[in-house]
Amino acid sequence: MRIIKTVAEMQNVRRELWKRSSVLGFVPTMGALHEGHLSLVRRARSECDLVVASIFVNPLQFGPGEDLAKYPRTFEEDCRLLELERVDVLFAPEAIEMYPTGSVTTVTVSEVGDRLDGASRPGHFTGVATVVAKLFHVVGPTRAYFGQKDAAQLAVLRQLVRDLNFDVELVGCAIVRDKDGLALSSRNKYLSALEGKQALVLHQTLLQLEQMIRDGERQSIALVQSGMETLNSAAGIRLDYLAIVDPNTLLPVTSAGTGTLVAVAAYVGSTRLIDNFLVT
Ligand code: PAJ
Repeated sequence: MRIIKTVAEMQNVRRELWKRSSVLGFVPTMGALHEGHLSLVRRARSECDLVVASIFVNPLQFGPGEDLAKYPRTFEEDCRLLELERVDVLFAPEAIEMYPTGSVTTVTVSEVGDRLDGASRPGHFTGVATVVAKLFHVVGPTRAYFGQKDAAQLAVLRQLVRDLNFDVELVGCAIVRDKDGLALSSRNKYLSALEGKQALVLHQTLLQLEQMIRDGERQSIALVQSGMETLNSAAGIRLDYLAIVDPNTLLPVTSAGTGTLVAVAAYVGSTRLIDNFLVT
């Protein structure tokens, strides 16, 4: 695996890669890799001629008072894991390389970018859209792989690709969970043993709502109320949002049907976790 640290070198390599591959797969990450990330890498590996991954803890998508400084960084181990998955190129720039002094341009996805996590974390999706637009320009992928775990991020990026005519196919990949159902996240590392147990109520609440829908309850009001009762009575949980929305616009729907997104965000101690499912 070739490790590249500068934009200029990545752009040179991209020109080479374009000559010898018809399908270039790209998996952007912030590192601290786990099986969720690796599932995207494996899918890219199975569907593409060449696979580029990136590791970049993007300062622009962290708000003041968020966890940028303490975000887990496990670069050596990440390299080992990506090597095992036969990634061809790892792009891992420093912040100064992506945002050199004097860089002022950002990309804001209005409306969809202001909903769910965009509402709770102002500016977050501008940070995400800006870095993903830059990464797409530098890496030049045919396909880019993102996790359904970050469903709002996926909606924002779909809008970005449509609006700015990126010639990139976005591939949404299923959520990977641990054996107890907790959605894998780099931030799970922050949880104490007790918080790890308390966090399970997020997935349990989603399962409860999935069951209610299967039993015929479709009204969003009833579903949200039931879910909120569970979450508000759970120890150690502070709910941010529980929402039943259209997965593309992230606007609330009155009734849950096939394809509807049921999404939750909550603090467990000081750690903010998200989870969701699509109604089938
Ligand atoms: P990060 O949180 O590192 O996640 C990188 C990719 O892995 C995202 O597409 C995310 O949805 C996916 N992912 C994380 N946990 C997952 C899980 N349990 N199952 C399946 N996929 C999972 O998301 C980001 O980084 C950043 O915002 C980024 C897109 C890299 C821009 O900075």
